[in-house]
Amino acid sequence: MANIVIIGTQWGDEGKGKIVDLLAEFADMVVRFQGGNNAGHTMVVNGEQFIGHIVPSGILQKKICIVGNGVVIDPKVLLEEIDSLVSKGLPVEPENLMVSENAHVIMPYHKKIDIAAESIKGINKIGTTGRGIGPCYEDKASRKGIRFVDFIDPEVFKEKLSSILPEKNFILEKYLSDKAVDADIIIEEYSSYSKRLAPFTKNISVIIHNALKEGKQVLFEGAQGTHLDIDHGTYPYVTSSNTVSGNAACGSGIGPKAITGVIGIVKAYTTRVGAGPFPTELIDETGDYIQKKGAEFGATTGRKRRCGWLDAVVLRNAARLNGLTGLAITKLDVLGGIKTLKICIGYEYNGKIIEDMPASIKLLSACKPVYEEMPGWNEDISGIRRVKNLPKTTRKYLKRIEEIIKAPINIVSVGPGRDETIVIKNPFKKLNA
Ligand code: GDP
Ligand code: IMO
Ligand code: MG
Repeated sequence: MANIVIIGTQWGDEGKGKIVDLLAEFADMVVRFQGGNNAGHTMVVNGEQFIGHIVPSGILQKKICIVGNGVVIDPKVLLEEIDSLVSKGLPVEPENLMVSENAHVIMPYHKKIDIAAESIKGINKIGTTGRGIGPCYEDKASRKGIRFVDFIDPEVFKEKLSSILPEKNFILEKYLSDKAVDADIIIEEYSSYSKRLAPFTKNISVIIHNALKEGKQVLFEGAQGTHLDIDHGTYPYVTSSNTVSGNAACGSGIGPKAITGVIGIVKAYTTRVGAGPFPTELIDETGDYIQKKGAEFGATTGRKRRCGWLDAVVLRNAARLNGLTGLAITKLDVLGGIKTLKICIGYEYNGKIIEDMPASIKLLSACKPVYEEMPGWNEDISGIRRVKNLPKTTRKYLKRIEEIIKAPINIVSVGPGRDETIVIKNPFKKLNA
């Protein structure tokens, strides 16, 4: 029996959706445990692309999908996602999609505050996705949030909304120079959502616990990436939740002992969307080449992703923070055609080499990457399905990543499609290539 957590090791968009979709075949249940619709997880099956924002990426494999208590949910977006999946012929019913009654609801004022607060920050803005994620987690922490269990009870919902709106409207009008929101309009809109979502709302901690007791295999799907973690990331240029593997337990209501493995998704280079330090960023032709070849546009906002070399400081940090037991390397095909590849093995600051990620953003911004070089490859590797058939230089690049992270590579992805994958070791142990 294996229960595996999938997390991003870098700044998000590592290809978690693809790997979760691939591994979901061997799981009984897929659980999202944090973040919200700031996430955009892409799956490509038989040439058809699906982008999930809230519904776990196990839905295409027709597994039980659970949205955990650690997730913040925009009900309108969740319903749109359900409708879109149903229109494609995929069953999405309370039997196969369940939402935690403790998950918090993203309200219209959260989105408005997110967008208006960013715009007044000017050059200091974080470059959020504008989906209301931060303000919703703020309300959760200050105990002003509305949980799903409150949302589906019209009386409680009305009461909670009336008590919070004066404060939200004060901030919107007086501080953010925005328009106030109206309680009656929100109640009317949200009551239609709550009626539809009530049957999906459950005590998911009990459901996952019972599945574990029966020996079912659970896949936990992280969103964002380790360096966007609220505690461990490049604060304040981070998201508002814990993205590291430890939160899989907290965000789904199970004990940490149930987790048997943690797979870190490593993009073969580095990308970042939004603002914040990025030591290996390439603002040159190579950066443009990777951006274009890798189609590096945000799956949620459509923004161009910043691109750069692989960064071992980032990867070592992720290995420690998540307790990685295995790796999935993605987008290796994108690096084909680059003569010399670089891997950052440390940062230089004031004549000294730093090997661990500095907490100070001032210091990190002043760090210069120290690179080692490796020969690249010219071949198109997207049709290769066995490691031994990869070019020698490609295998060397993979070996180096294993040495740096000190964890074995389980999966290598050479294209966006589910089948464009080399499985070296299946963490669910049922299939070994
Ligand atoms: P996530 O947020 O971690 O799930 O990643 P995204 O879906 O936001 O971004 C990853 C992008 O890369 C998507 O467009 C995927 O379809 C694509 N992708 C995933 N793996 C590969 C790969 O191995 N090669 C290529 N070329 N594209 C990939
Ligand atoms: P997936 O799950 C990449 C980034 C935003 C911004 C910062 C804060 O697809 O990997 P937020 O809206 O969360 O308050 O924005 O975090 N960000 C992501 N970047 N992938 C994501 O998700 C992201 N979710 C948030 O661009 O810099
Ligand atoms: Mg994404």
